[in-house]
Amino acid sequence: MSGTCYNVMFVLGGPGAGKGTQCQKIEQEFGYVHLSAGDLLRAERKRDESEYKDEIEEHIRKGSIVPVEITCALLQKAMKESGKKHFLIDGFPRNKDNLDGWNNTMQGIAEVERVIFFDCHVDTCVERCLRRGKTSGRADDNKESLEKRFS
Ligand code: C5P
Ligand code: MG
Repeated sequence: MSGTCYNVMFVLGGPGAGKGTQCQKIEQEFGYVHLSAGDLLRAERKRDESEYKDEIEEHIRKGSIVPVEITCALLQKAMKESGKKHFLIDGFPRNKDNLDGWNNTMQGIAEVERVIFFDCHVDTCVERCLRRGKTSGRADDNKESLEKRFS
């Protein structure tokens, strides 16, 4: 395939900053496809045949970062399967290694046109995540995992 095929906006901010909520709205209003790195990892973790499921489970539980090769491969697969061109990628890149991995694999495939950063006070984020934890079923919406996720 020649030329860049995907346009991407990275959506960043702490856990509970409102990335997912705002992405849903942008998706509806502007026709972007919303891909959450965390959601893709959680879905892969549930897949019995996945060779990565135990590794992903371990990282999510600890609040540490899954190796970028796994996350990037899941993002690329989701972009391809959608058949679309414009994406909001939420919760990625999480660190420098994520960004380097993205640049190494996505050069010439995806162009990052913009970064949206939600600057939300840590106390508000914690409060929201703990509230979400009551119904989200997310094992990492608790005080201990949250501390790791923030750092
Ligand atoms: O973004 P979200 O809060 O849904 O992420 C949940 C967990 O998924 C993170 O704490 C981390 O363990 C994993 N994750 C990751 N790399 C990313 C995004 C999420 O390892 N780029
Ligand atoms: Mg999210």
